[in-house]
Amino acid sequence: MSSNPIQSEKSPHILVLGMGGTIAGLANSPDKPLEYAAGQVGVDSLVSHIASAIPKNVKLVSHQLANINSRNLSESLLSLLGEAVRAALENPAVLGIVVTHGTDTIEETGVFLQLTCGQHANQVGKRVILTGAMLPSNAPGADGPSNLLDAIKWAATPLDNCPGGIYAVMDGRACMAMDLAKRHPTALNASLQAAPSSSAGLINPSWLSGVKAVQSAWTEDLPIPRQTEWPWVEILTSHAGARPETVSLWVESPVQGLVLAGSGMGGFHDAWQAPLVQAASKGIALVRTTRTGSGSTLPNIPEKDLAGCLAAGALSAPRARIALQLALNAEKLAKIVGKPLTWQDFFARIAVLPVIR
Ligand code: SIN
Repeated sequence: MSSNPIQSEKSPHILVLGMGGTIAGLANSPDKPLEYAAGQVGVDSLVSHIASAIPKNVKLVSHQLANINSRNLSESLLSLLGEAVRAALENPAVLGIVVTHGTDTIEETGVFLQLTCGQHANQVGKRVILTGAMLPSNAPGADGPSNLLDAIKWAATPLDNCPGGIYAVMDGRACMAMDLAKRHPTALNASLQAAPSSSAGLINPSWLSGVKAVQSAWTEDLPIPRQTEWPWVEILTSHAGARPETVSLWVESPVQGLVLAGSGMGGFHDAWQAPLVQAASKGIALVRTTRTGSGSTLPNIPEKDLAGCLAAGALSAPRARIALQLALNAEKLAKIVGKPLTWQDFFARIAVLPVIR
């Protein structure tokens, strides 16, 4: 049975799911827009605020899933969102889905939705569009209303110029949601620093061919972990003066995976070598990525990988962490049905997905 309660509206509509964030934030005083609390305004109000600009033929239904500062995003909330999106993809009355979200962890949610719902969205021909804002809703020049309007219009646009899938729109530009990341603490275009691609109203053909390449590579969605059953995975950053204890303290813990945010090409400090060998021999899943903020981490570069440790390709550390959690969960479920698939089998399919700029 679906955990999504939004089934009652039977006429065709765009579903807007509210998760909170600065788009729903309120500043104490409009002249101090950086002093604010995220997740204060309901998604119904965000939608009513732009009602006059929404095309007359577009019906909206909004539903509040959470109203948080996304730095507090939990894995159980990701499960709830994933189930709500899946139910909406199944619902013939829903034409498209918009998710309003905090930008701090929109990077995690983008890759989560791509890996759990991306193939399904493509197959049923519906767009799921994440958006947020950098300024709270009562700040002068707040960017939330225009971002939300762009997302709604794009979700409601007939399919011929862009297929169903998991996208994001911020600051008048669009990208695949799995390519969206906050790369500046305050700038209005902070969330598109990693992958600017095209405008919401004008989809660029070379970007579109990249989208189609991702979609043909992503042919099977991963299961959504049950709310309480997410594997425990941590991110460790290599740095000058790194100590073996940073790794060895985890070896005796119940942690199931470690994402190593390495320097440069994803190499890590020599002090980690011995405890990482111990971690791998204890069955802790290891993934290597780079702390540089862009580019790819490739297998066996700069040196041969530890046995069983996988390079994360273009995935940043936060994305690699979600991908590893989903891969470990998929391995567990595959075992239950007698399929001899490992987390590496699942993770390797994710790590080859390109970034589309
Ligand atoms: C949040 O991520 O909830 C706060 C920051 C933002 O939305 O920009």
